[in-house]
Amino acid sequence: APELVKQAKQAVGKQAAQWVESGMVVGLGTGSTAAFMIQFLGERLQRGELQQVRGIPTSFQAMVLARQAGIPLTTLDEVSEIDLAIDGADEVDPQKNLIKGGGAAHTREKIVDGLAKEFIVVVDGSKLVAHLGSTFPVPVEVLPLAIVPVMRALEQLGGEPEIRMAVKKDGPVITDQGNMVVDVKFAEIPDPASLEMHINNIPGVLENGLFVGLAGRVLVGEVTDGQPQVR
Ligand code: A5P
Repeated sequence: APELVKQAKQAVGKQAAQWVESGMVVGLGTGSTAAFMIQFLGERLQRGELQQVRGIPTSFQAMVLARQAGIPLTTLDEVSEIDLAIDGADEVDPQKNLIKGGGAAHTREKIVDGLAKEFIVVVDGSKLVAHLGSTFPVPVEVLPLAIVPVMRALEQLGGEPEIRMAVKKDGPVITDQGNMVVDVKFAEIPDPASLEMHINNIPGVLENGLFVGLAGRVLVGEVTDGQPQVR
């Protein structure tokens, strides 16, 4: 039920916001689960529980939500370190490897989450999979002028690429950076690290949504017997 999923996301977002300490530079993730974290982090700041926290948004969405929540923002140019990043995911495997980019934000997410000293993943239980790619294609951000050769190269890697189309527009989804997204279905992904590398080696590819070896803690929200829980 969508309401239970929402409660699970809310619980895990709230829990993750508790990991932020005064003085931290925090990477702010994208998606509905990270949005709850941003909201609760803002509430902690407004209550005076935390001081001197600065956020680095991973998307336009995160930037707008952080402003609304009253979280001061900074940029990668201005800080020497990111203490903690908190971000959602579309799939999480038992090795804590991820597929991200369901919100087309994976390029900035990989930069920010990858730079963080600690990267906490926030998901509801439906995101846990035995093998990456079983429920979700691999999102790839592509420079528009290279879209045709990149799709051909993705087919040569064994994938079935499809340009992501917008819902309220006749045409492709355009990322925050002005690029396109190709969702690539793979029958199986036996070696996520190698596939991540091979996709990013295609000229015209900016970044793909395979996150290998980046996640630290994975917080999972679930509703059991009507009670939202995090494990
Ligand atoms: C954004 O591009 C993705 O990587 C998100 O982090 C992901 O889609 C998670 O979204 P939800 O928390 O809304 O499921």
